[in-house]
Amino acid sequence: MKRSPLINPALLERIIDASEDGIVVAEQEGDENILIYVNKGFERLTGYSADEILYRDCRFLQNEDRDQEGLTAIRAALKAGRPCREVLRNYRKDGTLFWNELSITPMYDETDNLTYYIGVQKDVTERVEAQHALAHLKAKHNIEN
Ligand SMILES: Cc1cc2nc3c(=O)[nH]c(=O)nc-3n(C[C@H](O)[C@H](O)[C@H](O)COP(=O)(O)O)c2cc1C
Repeated sequence: MKRSPLINPALLERIIDASEDGIVVAEQEGDENILIYVNKGFERLTGYSADEILYRDCRFLQNEDRDQEGLTAIRAALKAGRPCREVLRNYRKDGTLFWNELSITPMYDETDNLTYYIGVQKDVTERVEAQHALAHLKAKHNIEN
């Protein structure tokens, strides 16, 4: 059933591309989840063009920074086919760090097979840096909570 006769696929694509957040679709292949779609927001956020990163697992955004708490939670959620939301340190193509609030949602077909994962990447760098600055100040002045 068509949800809305007012939005055709081309308009829907423009809407998804207008999002400031990254929106990606990944497909399971062996023990990896390879990107089969990225929106323009993802390209703007990471500095990579779709051509450069399609068919790769998104972990390339971590560079060598692989020892992160959020990754343990993501691995467990992917294994269980559960949705999750974690904040990760990621790196743009030019090497600059950004804090990525990543939401992953599994999609199942009618027969309950996991078909795709949807990922939404939100740049929360300002928020995380403010939290770190506050924590630093509190520690310096011995303030609890
Ligand atoms: C749909 C989807 C989007 C993802 N997006 C990102 C991302 O933007 N940044 C990132 O560091 N990891 C992302 N990941 C997580 C990695 O692909 C990978 O699952 C994670 O690094 C843990 O697995 P590993 O230990 O095999 O690397 C995404 C995963 C999925 C399924």
